[in-house]
This record gives sequence, C-alpha cells and structure tokens, in this order.
Amino acid sequence: MTRKPIMAGNWKMNVDHIEATGLVEKLHYTLVDKEWDPEKSDAVLCVPFTDLRTVRTLIDGDRLKFGLGAQNVSQHDNGAYTGEISTAMLSKLGVQYVIVGHSERREYYGEDDAVINAKAAKVLAAGMTPIVCVGEGLDIRKAGEHVEYTLNQVRGTLANLTAEQVAGLVIAYEPVWAIGTGEVATPEDAQEVCGAIRKEVAELYDEATAESVRIQYGGSVKSGNVAQIMAQPDIDGALVGGASLQPEEFAAIVRFYQ
Ligand code: G3H
Repeated sequence: MTRKPIMAGNWKMNVDHIEATGLVEKLHYTLVDKEWDPEKSDAVLCVPFTDLRTVRTLIDGDRLKFGLGAQNVSQHDNGAYTGEISTAMLSKLGVQYVIVGHSERREYYGEDDAVINAKAAKVLAAGMTPIVCVGEGLDIRKAGEHVEYTLNQVRGTLANLTAEQVAGLVIAYEPVWAIGTGEVATPEDAQEVCGAIRKEVAELYDEATAESVRIQYGGSVKSGNVAQIMAQPDIDGALVGGASLQPEEFAAIVRFYQ
C-alpha cells in the first residue's frame, strides 16, 4: 500500500489540560521504550480545544512525534460567532488535523452534510487536513441500507472539493452502532463500506484520487482487534475514542504499522 497509514486518537470531551500532560508523557515513554518510528505511519491526537496549547508545547518539546488535531471547528471566519473557534485560530496554534462531522456532532448539535462540507472546505483552505466522518446508525444497518446511506454522506460532505483536496484528506468510516459500545464491526463489514467509499471517490473524481485518500475505520478499536481490521485493503488506519485515553492501549494501536 502506498498510502501512509494514519492512527488518530479522539479524546472527545475528556482530559483537562493538566491531565493532558500526564497522558502525553505516559504515551511518550511507552513509545520511546518501543522505538516507535513516525516515518512508517502517522499518529495524531485530537484533543479538546482547551488542551491544544499544552499538547502543542509537548509535541514541540519532542515529547511525542504526533500530529495535533482538533475535534471540531467553526464553518465561519473570525467575527461575531460567540463560543466558536475558527480555522485561523487552530492553524495559528499549529493544529494540523480537524475532525469534522463526527456522529456525535451530527446527533447532538444537528450538523448535517452541508455544514460538515463547509467546515471541511474551511479546514482545507487554512492548510489543515480534515478527518471527515461518515457512518450509519443501527436502524440503517438493520435495513441493509448502510452502504448507500454512507456514500450519500460522502457525496454531501465532499461536495465541491477538488480532486487535489480530496486526495489529501482523511475519511473516517464510523458505524454509529460500534462507537463506544464495545461492538466492533467485523473486518468484512468495515471493508465492505470502506471499499465502497474508495470506489465512490474514484467515480466522483478519478482513480488516482481514490488511491490517495486515506480511509480510517472507527468504532471500538482496541489493541486486540486492530490487526484484523487494518488487514483490510481499503482501511488505512483507525479513529480511536475510548482506547486513546489509555496510554498503553493507544501506544499498541499506534505501533501496529511499525
Ligand atoms: O472518534 C472515535 C470514535 O467515535 C470511536 O470511539 O473507539 O470509543 O468506539 P470508540
């Protein structure tokens, strides 16, 4: 595979900026002990806004050879948007990745494909990489409509982006029923949708773009199941929630491609 694998941890609304130092230090020592090589795969920590400065400083101090990610961003430019954080603010902090359209944003904050598409475009315009999340809920899965449902999200969230932009971004397929539930999709289930996403990108753009775009699986990824899922041809990494809060677990996941 020519695509560089990418493992990302999503701390969600956990870990304050004091706790962040401890967690990063533990990750650092776990990975240093195991001689982790960042050339072989990318690793990213997507942390709460309030932790970004702290984690940036730790990364700059060579405590971790990770990329820094945020979990959300405004679709607006700087201005009168109380409570929002802009791409300009994130980029100035040295943020490199931004999760957009996580299912928790869709479910609790009413974000739809159009908003997520606008956010992805803003992130790209600011020189950062969006991690665009898609995936079906349990009702859709049970109805057997998961592939078409997810592809529809792909079309909506990538609308009007150029082939060059899409080639450089990350798509995270996260079946909602597998998030935080301990119920992981089978490798075949995950591959079915990730393969269909890559095919859809080829149809929307071209083969080269489809071959470049990195597709992650997310949903109850742990050190014990990462190998089977990552063995699938169209899965290039993982977006990890709960296990990213446990340094030993996350270090084992991040080291998978070493
Ligand atoms: O962003 C991460 C996903 O929502 C997966 O979370 O690993 O806790 O299931 P999880």
